[in-house]
Amino acid sequence: MPAADGDHSGVVDPYEHLHDEAYARPFALGRVGADGLVTTAGRTLVSLDGDWRFCIDPHDEGLRQAWYADEPLPAASWIAPRDYDDGAWQTVPVPSCWNTQKPEWRHYEGGAWYTRLFEHRPGPVGERVMLHVGAAAYEARVFLNGAFIGAHRGASTPFCLELTEHLRDGTNRLQIQVDNARRAERVPMHHTDWFNYGGLYRSVSLLRLPPVFIRDFGVGLVPGSGFGRVFVDIALSAPVYGEATVAIDGLLPPHPIPVTGGRGRIELELAPELWSPDAPRLYDVTLGFGADTVADRIGFREIRVEGERILLNGRDVVLRGVSVHEDDLHSGKTSGEADIRRRYADAKELGCNFLRLAHYPHDARAAAIADEVGLMLWAEIPVYWAIDFTGPDSYDDAANQLAELITRDRNRASVILWGVGNENADTDARLSFMGRLAGLARALDPTRLVTAACLIDRQRFAIADRLADSLDVIGLNEYFGWYEPSFDGLRRLLANSAPGKPVIISEFGADAVAGLRGGARELFTEDCQEAVYREQLAILATAPYVRGLTPWILYDFRTERRQTAFQRGWNRKGLIAEDKTTRKRAFAVLADHYSALAAAETRSTQPQEPEEP
Ligand code: GCU
Repeated sequence: MPAADGDHSGVVDPYEHLHDEAYARPFALGRVGADGLVTTAGRTLVSLDGDWRFCIDPHDEGLRQAWYADEPLPAASWIAPRDYDDGAWQTVPVPSCWNTQKPEWRHYEGGAWYTRLFEHRPGPVGERVMLHVGAAAYEARVFLNGAFIGAHRGASTPFCLELTEHLRDGTNRLQIQVDNARRAERVPMHHTDWFNYGGLYRSVSLLRLPPVFIRDFGVGLVPGSGFGRVFVDIALSAPVYGEATVAIDGLLPPHPIPVTGGRGRIELELAPELWSPDAPRLYDVTLGFGADTVADRIGFREIRVEGERILLNGRDVVLRGVSVHEDDLHSGKTSGEADIRRRYADAKELGCNFLRLAHYPHDARAAAIADEVGLMLWAEIPVYWAIDFTGPDSYDDAANQLAELITRDRNRASVILWGVGNENADTDARLSFMGRLAGLARALDPTRLVTAACLIDRQRFAIADRLADSLDVIGLNEYFGWYEPSFDGLRRLLANSAPGKPVIISEFGADAVAGLRGGARELFTEDCQEAVYREQLAILATAPYVRGLTPWILYDFRTERRQTAFQRGWNRKGLIAEDKTTRKRAFAVLADHYSALAAAETRSTQPQEPEEP
């Protein structure tokens, strides 16, 4: 097609990038990250959820031709041809994964456009309006009324962009281009054992804020203070001076926080009732500065390691867990509150006090509801399998996803571990990359433990990943009885290992088709999965440094790399089938095991009955 010349309907030449690939560069410059996040705690959000216009755009035509630049016009008004007309597009609900909306989009990977109109009336003078996106898989570029506002990468963490100067009094046009292509520099990279969903799959909202507002805050126990000292820190949107206030219902009446250069921190001698899974005590906390107020429900607890033990509030705790993906038969990676509560109800029926939220940051409500129902969590970023460990781009991306996760969930008592990766070959580049991430996690949040799901050191046949030196708790994935049929290797591994730190077996398991019965060594039968659980649990119980289990996995989940007649695009290691109802025989095996562990823990904490004379 010849490059067009002459007058165009839009404000830019739509054919400028017809013959080049430089079109995406301007949109990488406006990338936002953790520093741009604004807390939503206790705020009234203006929801932009609902029907948006949607169109796939595999050639990035929208960025090349600046689809965002043209005002929507009826075709009869065009003075030059256009290649899009968002008024004629199909609609999809936000939040949702486009893969679940139309059969033809099931396996679509690439760019796509979301666009909607919304009405806005200016607020008080100086009001600032932020866009808050719960998550967009994988990269998002935001345009408002024809202007490029900014971009974000990372498929599972929130981001904020300021819209203030581009808002109109009346009708506004918001467009978000989302791209979920798997790329070498992305985190995760090309190859994952879970389905690559795409889209605006968590809520989109507006925050209406005063000129100076509370960007972030933290409230918790000062580690090592004997549960008697509480910190409160606050960060404002501007380097101003003044006084903020904090109040903790039933614990602290309104108390001043001096603010210097936009930041403040106090520590107070307070002895809150401690949060634990058995007693998930939450306090209503309110912070204010000027015209801004935020509120949250916060639990106070301390988590630390001592030798090969994990101590919750100073007491040795065994983590009875299970792993879980964000994946649903109908809604894909979009998790509603009911889905999260069902997940936790099933985990509690298993006897869990702990879950591993694999392999990426889950919906913000996952940690908030775990706070409420009493479950501890391992939260992680998707530094999964092979990542470009040598590239600056991938480190910046991984580090930002970690910072966004920690910023979002730092006030969640349920989160006790930050996981910085999963099953990465032990190379020098990987060691440096993940050692830096572990250091970043500690620097951002000294109140939690750092872990990663490591692999067995095959040379020494031991738990000896070099990354362990950077971790508080060592996660270990092993599949004896499944990928390695013999359990002898597990016995040998445990006998060879002296980790000197607590170990969580972060994955073991076996595939089983729900309802398929057969012999204990008949692959993909429930009987085989049951036998693997029985043998694994018996052997793992012999290792004193194993202080937690998160068997793989609570529910069957989608993954296109599994295509036998047993799997057909599903990973069948779930203890419950993908209908999230049908339990497999191994469910009862794990439940019995956890019931015995919990009983033993109760006995160990009860005052001993005096010996009969
Ligand atoms: C790995 C990986 C999981 C995967 C599992 C499996 O351990 O961490 O993401 O699903 O094995 O093979 O089922």
